[in-house]
Amino acid sequence: MRNRFMMAPLTSQQSDFDGTASKYDQFWMEQLTQGGYGLIQTSDSTVEAGAIAFERQLGIHSDKHLPGLTKMATAIREGGALSAVQLHHAGHRAVPSLGGIPAPASSKTLKDTRILI
Ligand SMILES: Cc1cc2nc3c(=O)[nH]c(=O)nc-3n(C[C@H](O)[C@H](O)[C@H](O)COP(=O)(O)O)c2cc1C
Repeated sequence: MRNRFMMAPLTSQQSDFDGTASKYDQFWMEQLTQGGYGLIQTSDSTVEAGAIAFERQLGIHSDKHLPGLTKMATAIREGGALSAVQLHHAGHRAVPSLGGIPAPASSKTLKDTRILI
């Protein structure tokens, strides 16, 4: 890594609705490559379709996502930084209206997530 400046993952909710990286994702990454970072991360990216927490969240659970992710990684590498994807599963906060399937981590998981918000 060329330095210790690392771009934190930021969910920007601008991917296509199926999780494919959009032109806005690409443009955002290309802007970041001008910043001199040692490492740039994507926003949190769904590891399966049912893991979704945010509308227009970036995905990494299908081969159809590969071209967009590859294009972003290439832009980052060409700009001199290392690239990384933040893997994400929303667990019991997966959102059914977006296709999410809530997945409690244990029997002690609160059923009413409103308590946590
Ligand atoms: C709009 C927004 C989106 C964020 N998305 C993510 C995310 O996808 N993954 C994550 O781990 N943190 C996310 N965060 C948290 C940031 O990466 C960061 O940890 C937080 O803003 C604190 O950074 P700071 O200590 O430099 O202020 C997000 C924060 C903001 C404001």
